Amino acid sequence: MKRMLLAGAALLAVAALPAKAEDTVKVGMIISLSGQFADTGTQMLNGAKLYVKQHGDVAGKKIEIIAKDVGGINPPVAKRLAQELVTRDKVQFLGGFVLTPNALAVAPVATQAKVPTIIMNAATSIITTKSPYIARVSFTLSQVAAPLAEWAAKNKINHVYTLVSDYGPGNDAEATFKKVFTAHGGEIVGSVKVPLKNPDFSPFIQRIKDAKPEAVFVFVPAGEASVGFMKAFAERGLNKAGIKLIATGDLTDDDVLTAMGEPALGVISTHHYSAAHESPENTAFKKAYADVAGAGVRPNFMAVGGWDGMHLIYDTVKKLGGNIDGDKAMAFITSGVTIQSPRGTIAIDPTTRDVVQDVYVRKVQKVGGQLYNVEFDKVAKVKDPGKS
Ligand code: PHB
Repeated sequence: MKRMLLAGAALLAVAALPAKAEDTVKVGMIISLSGQFADTGTQMLNGAKLYVKQHGDVAGKKIEIIAKDVGGINPPVAKRLAQELVTRDKVQFLGGFVLTPNALAVAPVATQAKVPTIIMNAATSIITTKSPYIARVSFTLSQVAAPLAEWAAKNKINHVYTLVSDYGPGNDAEATFKKVFTAHGGEIVGSVKVPLKNPDFSPFIQRIKDAKPEAVFVFVPAGEASVGFMKAFAERGLNKAGIKLIATGDLTDDDVLTAMGEPALGVISTHHYSAAHESPENTAFKKAYADVAGAGVRPNFMAVGGWDGMHLIYDTVKKLGGNIDGDKAMAFITSGVTIQSPRGTIAIDPTTRDVVQDVYVRKVQKVGGQLYNVEFDKVAKVKDPGKS
């Protein structure tokens, strides 16, 4: 009897042990779960978690996400977290990255440790050039700003004022918009860069109003900044003055569009994902996402980035039969892979490791009483113009 009890206790102890290290592939995600960008990080993590929940084990391996909160724009902390994830937690992949400065800080760690690093949002063109172990499934600002500039020029908008956040993605958005818009005969009548952290938009917006452009082109990072901009735009009466608002889809982010309310109506934007995208894949994605994020939570492009990034990781683990080697992983990732995303089919460019995808032109409209970015045109298979 005593022996049987002992044997039972030993069995229990075995069952309670965590999965052995060799049975697990670890993915370290560096994201903001607190501060100004907490909502973006939460959406991205939920997207990644959803993929794991839907697909379970792959090549006999459990996929474990280790999420680290970088707390906003903080390159030194991002770098330290990456080092800890690689050396202490022994992650086989790095992922996440809402913000460009944090992604750039991690590039040397990815290179040194030969850890495949999947960018799930950060959208400055240069990021993928900083390490051969970095690939991006999200988008670049140049990739979406170029089609918007073309659309504006073709739609009788001749004079534009630009307003962007003063850091990498803002610089790219402004430079590409200007280049393409002027090449199509448009004129830039003024440009302003606003601080990234908690900016007060009112004085900048007043200056734009006084310049009387036909339209203002905007990039601010999705979330609090986009809500703040829209509020100031309406308060200063630019829409009533007939000044059109054209933007990268970060401004009319699905996560905050409802909070923006009526002033957002009619905004034209270009982006890679809208919750209103009509496809069976997106319908299924939205339904499943609500189970992870909570009923009524609309997935935004951060959530899709998390889901697609995890999709690429799963495909890589499968291809390598569960034995992750950084160089072999990158060889697969640069072999012409495609992913069926809720946004449509995306591909990873074998040379640049950057995403190639359709870019949609959208207009904020009410659908069933709620605001959505309704797609009405698209430019197919756009590469990052920042690389050519
Ligand atoms: C970035 O920092 O690269 C970034 C952040 C938020 C966005 C887009 C780009 O909406």
